Amino acid sequence: MSTNKNDLAQSWSLIAPDFDQIGPPFFAQTGRQLVESTEVRTGDRILDAAAGRGAVLFAAAEKVGSNGRIVGIDLAEGMLRNTAVDLRTAHQPVSLAQMDAEHLAFADAAFDVVLCGHAIFYFPPAIQEFRRVLRPGGKIGLTIVAAGTFDWLWQLFAAYQPIEEPAGEEEPVINTRKGLKWRLELAGLEQIRVWEETAVYIYTDEETWWQNLWALGTRHTLETMKPAQQQQFKQDLFQKLQMFRQPDGVHIPISTLFATALKPEALPNE
Ligand SMILES: C[S@@+](CC[C@H](N)C(=O)[O-])C[C@H]1O[C@@H](n2cnc3c(N)ncnc32)[C@H](O)[C@@H]1O
Repeated sequence: MSTNKNDLAQSWSLIAPDFDQIGPPFFAQTGRQLVESTEVRTGDRILDAAAGRGAVLFAAAEKVGSNGRIVGIDLAEGMLRNTAVDLRTAHQPVSLAQMDAEHLAFADAAFDVVLCGHAIFYFPPAIQEFRRVLRPGGKIGLTIVAAGTFDWLWQLFAAYQPIEEPAGEEEPVINTRKGLKWRLELAGLEQIRVWEETAVYIYTDEETWWQNLWALGTRHTLETMKPAQQQQFKQDLFQKLQMFRQPDGVHIPISTLFATALKPEALPNE
């Protein structure tokens, strides 16, 4: 594994115990919606790429029944360890493996469905790999938070730590309808549908949102701040959150892009 991927895996392993456990379960909610939209069926063989704490995995397990098979892979050992504990208590027919989504150790056409919730931005080219492990006529389902959703938060982070813009980037960004569609087309998929759904998630108070930031990919950036800087950031954040304040809590709107697509059926001579 490359150093960057190693660091990423370690960082997600630390986050794992609290991931999607603080405040409203955004990942579990969109995971269920993804499984519904992809029309997972009884008996399907499913790959959940970057399974995390099983937001997609558990929703899919309810659909496939005892004839189905679900494999969840993730780079982070800590994610798999925590999810394995949840699986033991839920008695689900699911297996887990530590694996890089860009290098899947599965045969061609091994799955009927490949799902990936909120992780494709880490490895856009892996869509080709997803296509390879899908059977002809098999389905892909993806989610990603839509561009613009958290601009207010990234602006705040940028004031503390300059965000590096990718140099000479010509490809459309993946968290836009255009970018996601382009990626799926590039991988030779068809019947592509990309749509956006916005929901409001209510956090009890500002402190809960702050704790939630420590249970997401943002944790790494928070950890690199000095204590005084972190304190100032927290103050500025609480001030920003006032724009979402309502009597019953902090109402955060989150827009998610959903995408589904099919691998073309094999031609007679293929
Ligand atoms: C935001 S979480 C999403 C988890 C889950 N799919 C969900 O919807 O809740 C991102 C996940 O991607 C995983 N990840 C990042 N890069 C990966 C890679 N190259 N291969 C496999 N998993 C990866 C992380 O370890 C983390 O569990």
